[in-house]
Amino acid sequence: MTQPVETTDRKQLYRDLLDAAKQATKHSYAPFSKFIVGSALRTADGSVYTGCNVENSNFANSICAERTAMVKAMSDGHREFDAIATVSLQAADCWPCGVCRQFLSDFGAGLTVVAEGAGGEIKSMPCAQLLPAAHVPKT
Ligand code: THU
Repeated sequence: MTQPVETTDRKQLYRDLLDAAKQATKHSYAPFSKFIVGSALRTADGSVYTGCNVENSNFANSICAERTAMVKAMSDGHREFDAIATVSLQAADCWPCGVCRQFLSDFGAGLTVVAEGAGGEIKSMPCAQLLPAAHVPKT
């Protein structure tokens, strides 16, 4: 059976986002955890914003790659998102932490979350699956 074109295109799109996320790890500032993370977020209009984790000597002030990418996009006016991919140089299956899941969920309608398995395979799931029964404020 042949794959529908849309499925193939989405797979390529997720691969491109994972590649962009890998590029973004170059700017990671993680002297404390040494866990280097990059993220790439595609907005509804097709723009791509990248982010990395940025740690702080007060560990609680550290910011994850996903939220860095989201804040960059939101501060340019974006409010609707298509997909976000995250990679770590230290571990496969780098899914967003709990704080990021909530942060993404606030704008998660239509958002697909993408990660890469140990064999390089693309894994994806809707944001709502990543944080079921999320608190989502009425807007
Ligand atoms: N981190 C991310 O940036 N994204 C994730 O999905 C997982 C965790 C960061 C936070 C911290 O700087 C380091 O990785 C260790 O938790």
